[in-house]
Amino acid sequence: KKIVTDLAVAGKKVLVRADFNVPMKDGNITNDDRIVQALPTIKHLIAEDAKVILFSHLGRVAEEADKEGKSLKPVAKRLTELLGKEVSFVAETRGEKLENAIDALGNGDVLMFENTRFEDIDGKKESKNDPELGKYWASLGDLFVNDAFGTAHRSHASNVGIASNLESAAGFLMEKEIKFIGESVDNPTRPFVAILGGAKVSDKIGVIENLLGKADKILIGGGMAYTFYKAKGMDIGSSLLEADKVALAKDLLERADGKIILPVDTTVNTGFSEEGDVKAVDADAIPDGYMGLDIGPKTVEQFKNELQGAKTVIWNGPMGVFEMESFAQGTIGVCKAIANLDEATTIIGGGDSAAAAMKLGFADDFSHISTGGGASLEYLEGKELPGLAAISNK
Ligand code: 3PG
Repeated sequence: KKIVTDLAVAGKKVLVRADFNVPMKDGNITNDDRIVQALPTIKHLIAEDAKVILFSHLGRVAEEADKEGKSLKPVAKRLTELLGKEVSFVAETRGEKLENAIDALGNGDVLMFENTRFEDIDGKKESKNDPELGKYWASLGDLFVNDAFGTAHRSHASNVGIASNLESAAGFLMEKEIKFIGESVDNPTRPFVAILGGAKVSDKIGVIENLLGKADKILIGGGMAYTFYKAKGMDIGSSLLEADKVALAKDLLERADGKIILPVDTTVNTGFSEEGDVKAVDADAIPDGYMGLDIGPKTVEQFKNELQGAKTVIWNGPMGVFEMESFAQGTIGVCKAIANLDEATTIIGGGDSAAAAMKLGFADDFSHISTGGGASLEYLEGKELPGLAAISNK
């Protein structure tokens, strides 16, 4: 793939698709990681005297009322602070005002235009990759840099559409994500251990299937563990169960040939709350009327042991209901155990586990924390990402 350093950008209008789909509350950005991670590409383009035109989607937009709170203006403001340099904001996604602002850019200037999904109000033009829209946006620049890894699993006008009309390259963030996630899965230094959590087996089937042939061990926690217990004929009380996935879980366990490791104990309660009778029990001793809400303390030790000597570790999905303090210990324990591995390449595959590691203050101890949620999952499933596939191959 071409990367941004392969392009001659000086004096050129460079369109940059970033993923600035950041969490917002009351008009404030609550986690700016995706903006911070986009800085290397933007700084490079400024230093190389490009005219930088940034854009992204933010949230999902179907009708006019959905625009409320989804302007990219706060992102332009935050980026101005992070760069120490003015990022001018144009509250349009097309038209003369935007075109004039782009024409007025000097070398090294940075402009951001409005949420690309505001084009979805009238017929989902952005999200359905309307060919005219991709062509129009491409006409605004000379070159295209796609740094939006988090959006790479979408085939939209602002990534795939533009790339089909303009010479394009991957940005540094896209390159970094591919290097860490792609290389770890395709060519890992062994032993390679994957730790998978999250509520549902159905969300992770593709990842488990793909990693079965690649990882040396797959440690399973989170709500999906109970469907696997059921597949082994164990009693799970009132724990979360995907009854229609029991046969599949059984099949995966058989094919895994011992590679899949299930928690030896679990923290249970009488209901989905912190009130009640919280206690740790062995996996085969979940009492009637109790539900498992986290892996137990013995499992944290078990997983720690399984991780010893690992050279590549990928973690995706919390080990329990970590939003509630009583059921956060498993996720905290696993996060610490991975963070403490000195000689392994350690990767968090985005989403909830990335948020947990940042909140716990362990972000710096990982080799890489993916900015992708859905994109990382699909990458781990071994699927081709359209946003990535559309980037020029020379
Ligand atoms: C994400 O946060 O996963 C990406 O920005 C994609 O957003 P989407 O699921 O709304 O397409």
